[in-house]
Amino acid sequence: MIKEKDWIKDLVIYQIYPRSFYDANGDGIGDLPGVLQKLDYLEELGINAIWFSPVYRSPNDDNGYDISGYQEIMEEFGTMEDWERLRDACKEKGIRIIMDLVVNHSSDEHPWFLESRSSRDNDKSEYYIWRDPLDGHEPNNWASAFGGSAWEYVPERGQYYFHYFSKKQPDLNWACPRLREEIFHMIDWWVDKGVDGFRVDAISYLDKPRDFPDSTQPPQPDGYSFPDTLAGRPGTHAYIREMNQRIYTPRNVLTVGEVSAPTVEELGNYVRTDREEFDMAIPFVPPVVEIDTWSPDKLRHDIEESYEALKGNGWWARFFSNHDKPRQVSLYGDDAQYWEVSAKLLAMFLHSLPGTPFVYQGEEIGMTNVKLPSIEDYNDLDTINTYRQSLLSGMTPEAALTRARLISRDNARTPMQWDDSEQGGFTTGTPWLKVNPNTAKINVKAQRQDPHSVYQCYRQLIALRKKSPSLSRGDMTFLETGCKELIAFTRSTPGEALITFHNFSGQELTIPDALLSAAGEALLSSYDREGGYRGPVLRPYESVIFRVKKPKPPQ
Ligand code: NOJ
Ligand code: CA
Repeated sequence: MIKEKDWIKDLVIYQIYPRSFYDANGDGIGDLPGVLQKLDYLEELGINAIWFSPVYRSPNDDNGYDISGYQEIMEEFGTMEDWERLRDACKEKGIRIIMDLVVNHSSDEHPWFLESRSSRDNDKSEYYIWRDPLDGHEPNNWASAFGGSAWEYVPERGQYYFHYFSKKQPDLNWACPRLREEIFHMIDWWVDKGVDGFRVDAISYLDKPRDFPDSTQPPQPDGYSFPDTLAGRPGTHAYIREMNQRIYTPRNVLTVGEVSAPTVEELGNYVRTDREEFDMAIPFVPPVVEIDTWSPDKLRHDIEESYEALKGNGWWARFFSNHDKPRQVSLYGDDAQYWEVSAKLLAMFLHSLPGTPFVYQGEEIGMTNVKLPSIEDYNDLDTINTYRQSLLSGMTPEAALTRARLISRDNARTPMQWDDSEQGGFTTGTPWLKVNPNTAKINVKAQRQDPHSVYQCYRQLIALRKKSPSLSRGDMTFLETGCKELIAFTRSTPGEALITFHNFSGQELTIPDALLSAAGEALLSSYDREGGYRGPVLRPYESVIFRVKKPKPPQ
């Protein structure tokens, strides 16, 4: 069995979506010099690792998740020298660098693809997945994740190529050994440049069935069907292990796989230590599914199940937010009446769990979903596809817009709210995506000055984790509260124990006496502005972290 990487247990990872973080040159697009200017802010927050969503050369069909140059920097974000300056500044502050690694697919503008598509017989011919037409049509009925067929015809070859995501994101052919070598070489190159880890994008789909059977799933409104099974084929796990053995383990780099794993068994296949694949995983759940199925009870159940499955044989990435999800306070909290306390509750809950916490930019100030006026204001291709499919299914334009707004990935991608000015201090120009007008109230500048802000709550939590071995390494035990909306658990090491209570509702809920008797000093409360914890009746979205009382020494 390989040794777990212990250093990953001390990380708090901040995710930057560079396009929306900070624009240093006024062109309306966030950039690397912008990140450099805000590094002191991140140091003050206390995080010690940054995951950068893709910063590579890209025509931006999917905002950088379509890479046309793996060893180049996107022009809009700056230069390789800018990246190196940022790397050096991060190293100086002890901040680890985690890069997004997108190797399920490239851009259709990548030189490999341009060559591959030019003829059936060229040096890169096998780098992508090509199939002959079937009776003059696509090779099967599969839908692409972003709408339409998963196949696109290229007259030069008289063939279709496969793209699980947009048609500008052709899937790479991992069955081709030369392609794998090129990718491993590229990853090694980034490790040589000082990268500490990778978040590995859409990694469950590497291996494809040779015969591409038709899907039996019901068709989407546009007529195509999602594949019955594509994720997690044994061949995919073999490729991941090969990457691990060639690079990740020998070079001691952190890996976070973004996986499609609907069951805990499937999750374990990627992250059980004895599998030698990833250190931790971000399971992808489509927002529409999460919005419909989420409940505090399910949350607790899922956490408990994956905790039991992986303790002692794996590790957890802990996140509520990222660039593909609605804002957490809008999804799991209450972004109206209980905005501040519910944003704090979510932070306190997540940072109390075993695993490595992730903070998605803006989460630390409680940024919320946005309602942009019209579909034209949305940029995300997934949002636009949802809107289109809704219209095809017969919805009115108003209903289609409401639905698109609800699931839109742009909720998480509106610019970071640095101050209360019109563009939120993000840019001096016109931002590429509209700023949420609530920047007038929710912004970094105000919250840095306010001792009771959401931002200060994150700072306290991150600081607490650094000094509390039970939070970074301890065991977890859920406690029965008799109420599904009141989640309670302990974290403990032989030398230290904490007990936590989280009211995931807009009602008052009472902590049972039997549990309260263990609670000693209250360390943090989501009601700090109101004077902190005041008794067993928890207010709406009240969250408290206590030390467990030390047993009285025998008389
Ligand atoms: C997952 C990424 O997080 C998402 O933003 C992207 O659209 C897909 N993978 C395709 O790369
Ligand atoms: Ca810029």
